[in-house]
Amino acid sequence: MSEKLANNVEKVSIQENHSDKPYQGKDEDDFVDPWNVVSKSDTGVDYDKLIVRFGSSKIDDELLARFEKVTGKPVHHLLRRGFFFSHRDMHSILTRYEQGKPFYLYTGRGPSSSSMHVGHLIPFTLCKWLQDIFNCPLVIQMTDDEKTLWKDLSVEEAYKMALENAKDIIACGFDINKTFIFSDFTYIGQRAEFYRNMIRIQKCVTFNQVKGIFGFDDSTVIGKIAFPAVQATPCLSTSFPDIFGTQKIPCLIPCAIDQDPYFRMSRDVCPRIGFDKPALLHSKFFPALQGAQTKMSASEANSTIYVNDTPKQLKNKINKHAFSGGQVTVEEHRKIGGNCDVDIAYQYLRFFLEDDKKLEEIRKNYTSGELLTGELKKILIDILTPILQGHQDNRAKITDETLQTFMTPRKLCI
Ligand code: TRP
Repeated sequence: MSEKLANNVEKVSIQENHSDKPYQGKDEDDFVDPWNVVSKSDTGVDYDKLIVRFGSSKIDDELLARFEKVTGKPVHHLLRRGFFFSHRDMHSILTRYEQGKPFYLYTGRGPSSSSMHVGHLIPFTLCKWLQDIFNCPLVIQMTDDEKTLWKDLSVEEAYKMALENAKDIIACGFDINKTFIFSDFTYIGQRAEFYRNMIRIQKCVTFNQVKGIFGFDDSTVIGKIAFPAVQATPCLSTSFPDIFGTQKIPCLIPCAIDQDPYFRMSRDVCPRIGFDKPALLHSKFFPALQGAQTKMSASEANSTIYVNDTPKQLKNKINKHAFSGGQVTVEEHRKIGGNCDVDIAYQYLRFFLEDDKKLEEIRKNYTSGELLTGELKKILIDILTPILQGHQDNRAKITDETLQTFMTPRKLCI
């Protein structure tokens, strides 16, 4: 994180509702923007404070109860356990669903490495669940342009990674009849409607505003300065004429909370050009193996479990690198017990072990000292191994033809 960026982020001016309170990507403990996440605390970012700072709403029991009432299904464990913890306008989406009015899902992925990591599967897992229960179209933006601009990658390399990552995304089980995946490099040249909407958005946002929201400065390349409009454009349904024709319908965006600056900007612009504001579901970050101070990053091999890791690599990484909340010696551990709040193996189980009863048993036994760190890590390895294997099997079955179909602009069957 550069000091310059941090300083610029403090100067922020634009805010939804036109409040004059400045948006801050950082406070004294945490720094969160689309490119950096760092916390001083070993339990990670203070998410309640982030809700206040970003001006979003907490996903509370009342919203979850309404979710269950409206859909008639129990909520997904990622919602129930609070990984998706914040939202904007989710009530309006549920109301539309009750009224039988249409909406669509929009999410995306910046392809910065050829393999995705297990943390990347989290928002896509929720997306798949939402697609199934709401039976709605889903558009997935692969921002190969963004990664070319921000990383040391050529246009060709980033595009290739977009195709590789798209296969990992398809392996999450999305319905080919309801899902459109697009690379910016390809699709933006294919449909004039997308480009026209992009310009409509660019016309509404000043350099000063993006400086404030994203920390850009006078030496930022112009591709980056214009990029936020690219990520905002899929919020407008008419950017996808093959799917929606000229119909204006709102979208729901499941994403990690660090993407919120893009959508605060989108929510500011949409009503000014005749569209609904996008609704959002925000997730927490998936912690790095070394601890929750930072999120898992695909460019740091040691802190990361890739979806294509072998069972042996997985085992080694967890045993060697997963930060432990246990005590130094067995005697001490038996006496004092482990701290689940900072223990990465336990934290990962909260993502991947759906059974609430088993999870609670593990928590009790680790906290009391009955369960040792090595044993806890083994439980995680035994759960993650078949998950990765299943993912790899699914991925191996995806043909170039299937990939091609997902990525072709076309009418979806809803
Ligand atoms: N910028 C995101 C990334 O780097 C990719 C992205 C594009 C995205 N559109 C999105 C993420 C919508 C969530 C929702 O990964």
